[in-house]
Amino acid sequence: MADKLVLGVFVSGGGTNLQAIIDCCEAGTIDATVGVVVSDKADAYGLERARKHGIPAVHVKLGKTGSTAWEQADAEHVRILQEHDVGLVCLAGYMRKIGPRLLEAFSGAVLNIHPALLPAFPGTSGQHDAADYGVKVAGCTVHFADAEFDCGPIIIQATVPVLEDDDGDTLAARILEQEHKAYPQAIQWFAEGRLRIEGRKVRVLDAKTPAEGEAIISPPVEIDQ
Ligand code: GRF
Repeated sequence: MADKLVLGVFVSGGGTNLQAIIDCCEAGTIDATVGVVVSDKADAYGLERARKHGIPAVHVKLGKTGSTAWEQADAEHVRILQEHDVGLVCLAGYMRKIGPRLLEAFSGAVLNIHPALLPAFPGTSGQHDAADYGVKVAGCTVHFADAEFDCGPIIIQATVPVLEDDDGDTLAARILEQEHKAYPQAIQWFAEGRLRIEGRKVRVLDAKTPAEGEAIISPPVEIDQ
């Protein structure tokens, strides 16, 4: 068996996406292993999740984006990732911009997950913004990350219906369930070498075709057609 893809996962909070990735790695669902978990928050529960699985967990203090401390952290990120032989960087609930050194060292190998159907609802409250806007479908996006937030080429998206009594929190919980499916799938396609970035688009080689007419209409249609 070829050496497994080593992941470097960045978290800022609870780390449920990290947990889904760890679980898929340990179950052999994806051909990867988590080599190191990095957080800008010393108390991020995601670091605790890593420790519980015997995965190196590192807090790297950042400072203000663009500051000398932030640039030093960027270099430290690259050192840590290379020390652990990381081949793919996964931003998973990571709330800070990544630096130019990391993007250069891992060009084409940094993924991010966003809890909205980009380009709609970028930023730090995509689920709540979607609920407040009154959309009828919402979802999540896994994309290649670049120097800006939430705008790299899209790999996979998942949609969920918005229910009449949804608020931001109930919608976020429903989206999160799909995040935990979409992220491991994106990682597996990367591990299999099946992702091709073509300008703004990502082609997944030999991907399945959605069933004919497979679409979500929310609320469900009632008229006979
Ligand atoms: C998720 O919705 C993720 O998309 C967003 O932060 C939320 C929490 O992620 N960036 P996690 O539970 O820390 O993985």
